[in-house]
Amino acid sequence: MGILQANIRMVSVLVVLLVHLLVIAESLQKQASCSDEESYALLQFKHSFFINIDASLHDGAHSKTSSWKPEGGNSSCCSWEGVECDEGTGHVIGLDLSSSLLFGSINSSSTLFRLVHLQRLNLSDNHFNYSQIPTNIRNFPRLRYLDLSGSVFFGQVPLEVSHLSKLSSLDLSDNFLNGPFSDSLANLTELTYLSLENNNFKGSTLSWVGKLTKLTQLRLEGTNLIGNIPSSLGNLTQLTFLALPYNQLTGPIPSSLRNLGSLAYLDLGVNKFHSSIPEPLFNLTDLKTLYLDENGLTGQVDIFKVQNMTVLQLGGNKLEVITDSRTIDATILPMFKTLGLGSCGIKEFPYFLRYQQNLQWLDLSRNTLHGQVPKWMWNTSTQSLGFLALSYNFLSGFGQPNVVLPWVNLQVLFVGHNLLGGSPPIPPKHIIYYSLDGNKLTGELSPLMCNLSTLQYLDLSSNKLSGTILPCLGNFSNDLQALNLRSNSLHGILPQTYSNTSNLKMLDVSYNQLLGKIPRSLANCVKLESLVLSVNKFSDVFPFWLGSLPQLKLLAMHHNEFYGVIENTKENLHFSELRILDLSCNKFRGEFPSEYIFSGNAMRGIVLSQPTYMEASSYLNIGHAQLFSYQFEVTISNKGVERYYENIQEDLGVIDISSNNFHGKIPEFIGNLKGLRFVNISNNIFNGSIPSFFKNLTLVEALDLSQNQLSGEIPQQLAQLTSLAYFNVSCNNLTGSIPQGHQFHTFENTSFEGNPGLCGDPLTKRCGDSNAPPHLPPSSSIEENVSGSAFEFDWKFVLAGFGSGLLVGVVLADVAITRRRELFLDIVGTMIRQMKRIRRQRMY
Ligand SMILES: *[C@@H]1O[C@H](CO)[C@@H](O)[C@H](O)[C@H]1NC(C)=O
Ligand SMILES: *[C@@H]1O[C@H](CO)[C@@H](O)[C@H](O)[C@H]1NC(C)=O
Ligand SMILES: *[C@@H]1O[C@H](CO)[C@@H](O)[C@H](O)[C@H]1NC(C)=O
Ligand SMILES: *[C@@H]1O[C@H](CO)[C@@H](O)[C@H](O)[C@H]1NC(C)=O
Ligand SMILES: *[C@@H]1O[C@H](CO)[C@@H](O)[C@H](O)[C@H]1NC(C)=O
Ligand SMILES: *[C@@H]1O[C@H](CO)[C@@H](O)[C@H](O)[C@H]1NC(C)=O
Ligand SMILES: *[C@@H]1O[C@H](CO)[C@@H](O)[C@H](O)[C@H]1NC(C)=O
Ligand SMILES: *[C@@H]1O[C@H](CO)[C@@H](O)[C@H](O)[C@H]1NC(C)=O
Ligand SMILES: *[C@@H]1O[C@H](CO)[C@@H](O)[C@H](O)[C@H]1NC(C)=O
Ligand SMILES: *[C@@H]1O[C@H](CO)[C@@H](O)[C@H](O)[C@H]1NC(C)=O
Ligand SMILES: *[C@@H]1O[C@H](CO)[C@@H](O)[C@H](O)[C@H]1NC(C)=O
Ligand SMILES: *[C@@H]1O[C@H](CO)[C@@H](O)[C@H](O)[C@H]1NC(C)=O
Repeated sequence: MGILQANIRMVSVLVVLLVHLLVIAESLQKQASCSDEESYALLQFKHSFFINIDASLHDGAHSKTSSWKPEGGNSSCCSWEGVECDEGTGHVIGLDLSSSLLFGSINSSSTLFRLVHLQRLNLSDNHFNYSQIPTNIRNFPRLRYLDLSGSVFFGQVPLEVSHLSKLSSLDLSDNFLNGPFSDSLANLTELTYLSLENNNFKGSTLSWVGKLTKLTQLRLEGTNLIGNIPSSLGNLTQLTFLALPYNQLTGPIPSSLRNLGSLAYLDLGVNKFHSSIPEPLFNLTDLKTLYLDENGLTGQVDIFKVQNMTVLQLGGNKLEVITDSRTIDATILPMFKTLGLGSCGIKEFPYFLRYQQNLQWLDLSRNTLHGQVPKWMWNTSTQSLGFLALSYNFLSGFGQPNVVLPWVNLQVLFVGHNLLGGSPPIPPKHIIYYSLDGNKLTGELSPLMCNLSTLQYLDLSSNKLSGTILPCLGNFSNDLQALNLRSNSLHGILPQTYSNTSNLKMLDVSYNQLLGKIPRSLANCVKLESLVLSVNKFSDVFPFWLGSLPQLKLLAMHHNEFYGVIENTKENLHFSELRILDLSCNKFRGEFPSEYIFSGNAMRGIVLSQPTYMEASSYLNIGHAQLFSYQFEVTISNKGVERYYENIQEDLGVIDISSNNFHGKIPEFIGNLKGLRFVNISNNIFNGSIPSFFKNLTLVEALDLSQNQLSGEIPQQLAQLTSLAYFNVSCNNLTGSIPQGHQFHTFENTSFEGNPGLCGDPLTKRCGDSNAPPHLPPSSSIEENVSGSAFEFDWKFVLAGFGSGLLVGVVLADVAITRRRELFLDIVGTMIRQMKRIRRQRMY
């Protein structure tokens, strides 16, 4: 019995085995059918690239081709990773080499184009070294899926793409493609999915789009499109997803969009639409997400006509949003997750918010809300709310002083630029961003702040806070990246304990009444980039110990009581990244050891391929991934005027050591610092002549050498400095003729006066003319001229900024692109590939 059963079991096991073997044999047979030609083509294709770990950005990227081996001839390709063969014919019909670390150029001679049976081709997330999309792409007439996204392709989309008439999915997003693209796309009538986002198709329009009537998803974010939305877009009745943000589309939003009955997601934000919002948009039954922010839209929107939407973003238009109808049953409104009503002319807290319990993201900034936050708001979305922006209103309080705010999961709170008085409201424990700048806060900081151990950004600047800086602010949160206490009435000393686990990048305590020494423990903050101590009563020697900080770019300490000779400590503390040094109005003396401070310094040759600003940033997921960045700010004097910079370009080079007692010759080493833009050494006791090496500073915009004891002539070579907008050598003992031509004809005589021996334009004393008066009475026209040129040359600092340095870029896009490296320094070192895809930037 037992034996029989065992036998039966054995037989069945054997049968199963046999079946398995058959299956394996069959599949071997299939694999064997891969032709030599195709295997060879694949191997050649493989060998035309390097494998480079930096070539792919996604997690899990690996070299798929490294397993490709020509075992027993070429004919095993169907089993290779990423290769798919037709079961009947054995032809290669699919190739998926996405995220395969491929690096190298590709052109039409590539053996890839011999795989003429391809139906699916996926080369996304590799690095094709700015190759053009090869015209031989037309060799794939059977192609249905083509994905070349994020692979560093460059140049125009070849016309040959229009031959791929079977294409149903085309993804060319995240490349360096440029345009305008021709009507070739209009031919691809089988497309259901089209993504061209994040390219630069400058000058292209949407005229072709109406023919692609099978599209279900159309993604054209950030492609630099111009023109109107054609009404034929209404023909794409299958669309469920339409994203056109971050372009330059103009005109009205066409009401033909009413035909898009399946639309669930519509994003027209960050364009130049100017019309009212066509009412039918609110009648689209499936529409759940609507972004219309940052346009020029006008007219009234009745929020009570919105139904079924969970994400509604209307901020940054000229809309008037009606939110205060108490007669209408507010419970008919959908439960929003994201509600953006910034700059919507709202005068009162919208009463319907009382019933909203799912809000994650609420923006009511830049309205005219006033008084206290109503009590019922304390019941709104207490569990879900992660982001709350109330900045730029007229709020005077949260209704309940000295109580921890009720939104237990709040991560971001912007209440800057209101009229809040008293002590700062205490946010819930897990807050990450907290901005209260520009209010009327008074009193001391509550010790409860010390419990906010996940804070990354705290901005209390421009208030009237008094008392001392809580000692805990040195180390209460290891995550802290930016602490801004600028412009208050704080006194006492700085916290003494900065730990070596600190992530602090920016510390600004300027414009207070702080005193004492600079804590040596600040040298523990190895990530520190910006330290602003200006306008206090600090009294210490030059903080040479900060020279070890590898990231320190900005050190501003003007108007304090720093003193003494800046000595070279021989400890190799070299301030290797320092670009902005402001020591003005202190009591330093001795020589200015520029060689010690700036040797090996980045300022010798900073080259940025695109303007970036000094900032700290983090990703947060509140409903969707968003990039929050905090831009550093500083007040420095430029061209004789104190100026407040809301953002600081990374390559700005500044040396201001004016109004000290530095003496000796102007250090020659400065001639090496080619990134310098502002140099101010005025009001010291430098002597000797003006060195001709200043001609090396080809970017310099302002050069102030006034009020020293400089003698000799002004080097004629300075006339070559074409960027020079401000030049002041007044009150020295210079002689000879003033250089002429180029910028020099724009300088007023105030730039030169107080030098009895100088002659030539713009002074009336002519060279060789001993009858002219020694120097002129002071001119009154200086102010006009200075501010004029300042405006002209400072445009680059005037970003879309108002007031606060807090900037939020909302990153949609697939967060699947993990930021293994946020900034991908290109292998060829020519361009920076930035994978953080910022769609919207808004100041809060
Ligand atoms: C691989 O295929 C190519 C082209 O068909 C052929 O020239 C080559 O000899 C083959 N190599 C082997 C090892 O079979
Ligand atoms: C990448 O492109 C550059 C410029 O065209 C070229 O010099 C370099 O050899 C290319 N590198 C590779 C691996 O193809
Ligand atoms: C294509 O690239 C190969 C090597 O990468 C090169 O030998 C060939 O000259 C290129 N062909 C063209 C037409 O540029
Ligand atoms: C290409 O590969 C990537 C990564 O595996 C995947 O996300 C994408 O959907 C693929 N594209 C197509 C068209 O299948
Ligand atoms: C459309 O595709 C056909 C081949 O399918 C081609 O002959 C024609 O030139 C294409 N039209 C355009 C405008 O590219
Ligand atoms: C597309 O829309 C336009 C204008 O709305 C219309 O004139 C045209 O007939 C439509 N074309 C098709 C193929 O439906
Ligand atoms: C939109 O729907 C409302 C009722 O929900 C209706 O009164 C209105 O006529 C509709 N508008 C359009 C343009 O269909
Ligand atoms: C809201 O959705 C429901 C069900 O999905 C649908 O019946 C209703 O018509 C929608 N209302 C509006 C105004 O779109
Ligand atoms: C908040 O909600 C609770 C319970 O839902 C209720 O008892 C309380 O009265 C509400 N408070 C306000 C101010 O609406
Ligand atoms: C703050 O932290 C201290 C010690 O960690 C704790 O005793 C206190 O209860 C906390 N206070 C609040 C309001 O969480
Ligand atoms: C000025 O630049 C020239 C050439 O760029 C260089 O040789 C010289 O050393 C520089 N002078 C100073 C003082 O740095
Ligand atoms: C200015 O320089 C001249 C020589 O060029 C010298 O005689 C005179 O004393 C100097 N004046 C001052 C105030 O240093």
